[in-house]
Amino acid sequence: MLKSLAALFFYARFLLPFSAIGHRRRVAARPAPPFNFSGQRWCVTGASGGIGRAIVLGALRGGAEVHALARDAAKLEALRNEAGEDAARLHLVRVDLSSLAETEAWAAHAPRFDVLVHNVGVMLHEHRTTTEGVETSFATNVLVPFAMTAALRSAAAVDAGSLIISVSSGGAYGAKLDLDALEARVPTAHDGFMAYAQHKRAQMELTRWWNTQADGPRALVMHPGWVDTDGVRSSLPGFRRSLQRVLRDGAQGADTALWLAATRPEPSPEGGVWLDRHRDDEHAFAMTRGGASAEALSCFLNNRIAAAKSKRK
Ligand SMILES: NC(=O)c1ccc[n+]([C@@H]2O[C@H](COP(=O)([O-])OP(=O)(O)OC[C@H]3O[C@@H](n4cnc5c(N)ncnc54)[C@H](OP(=O)(O)O)[C@@H]3O)[C@@H](O)[C@H]2O)c1
Repeated sequence: MLKSLAALFFYARFLLPFSAIGHRRRVAARPAPPFNFSGQRWCVTGASGGIGRAIVLGALRGGAEVHALARDAAKLEALRNEAGEDAARLHLVRVDLSSLAETEAWAAHAPRFDVLVHNVGVMLHEHRTTTEGVETSFATNVLVPFAMTAALRSAAAVDAGSLIISVSSGGAYGAKLDLDALEARVPTAHDGFMAYAQHKRAQMELTRWWNTQADGPRALVMHPGWVDTDGVRSSLPGFRRSLQRVLRDGAQGADTALWLAATRPEPSPEGGVWLDRHRDDEHAFAMTRGGASAEALSCFLNNRIAAAKSKRK
């Protein structure tokens, strides 16, 4: 009962800003010329559907060459068809982004990227583990993007001139970063909704971490608002039924990522999360402040990667 009331309060608080109406209002305050990305090479994860697909199409429209990463060959082919003439600049990459081994193997031979969009994200209500023994949503949302970034840096595929954009979520407003809550080790401890909130909060701390690295890429974190995608359809069917009329479309969800890449605002020392071309506070409620630090998170993830790899041997 208390949990339902808290959820109701949470959704009511963000109903307007995260809806399509909120998007139109705020974007109108920051108009921009058509985005120009010609001469740039992009990598977009989770690219075959939803917001990722819209980011790929927007980047291609702006003249970028795009490497689109996802698992499903048919969905990737549909993306190629949708790209039309721009498909000449589109590279489809089939990779399981919950797998450290597959993702690192791809990263080791990747070309240099001007823009890396960590878009892939899942909310899983059932507890599942990858073949490497990592809870699947934690692997997909946090662990593998962290390892992938390190592997791309080692391969000089991202460098000081690159920009990382992480697609977080308003779900982060419900969580104070707790390293022990990132990954349930036993099925009964898994709460898909709360794990997702932790992962989306972790993306904000990872952004802070990347920005502390000398000679590394710059990083920004954004959230897309509430977007009508397959992900929402499968993980939040009741939410979608109630709010369908005000949900955003993929292009509205992708707009902030494209705008950030076009305008490249300097990361602020205070952090901040971008929504609809405006930088918002990373916290909406005092209770989410004071969680684990960016440094503690990066140590935790390095240890978790080492543990997963040692099991593989
Ligand atoms: N939709 C929203 O309202 C909303 C709100 C806030 C934040 N977000 C965030 O926005 C991002 C995109 O969300 P979405 O709603 O567009 O998701 P979606 O509709 O579920 O699409 C997810 C994409 O990721 C790919 N994917 C999933 N698992 C993968 C894996 N293991 N390896 C490779 N690719 C994988 C899927 O393609 P394949 O099946 O082909 O692999 C698909 O292209 C996520 O980070 C999400 O947290 C969404």
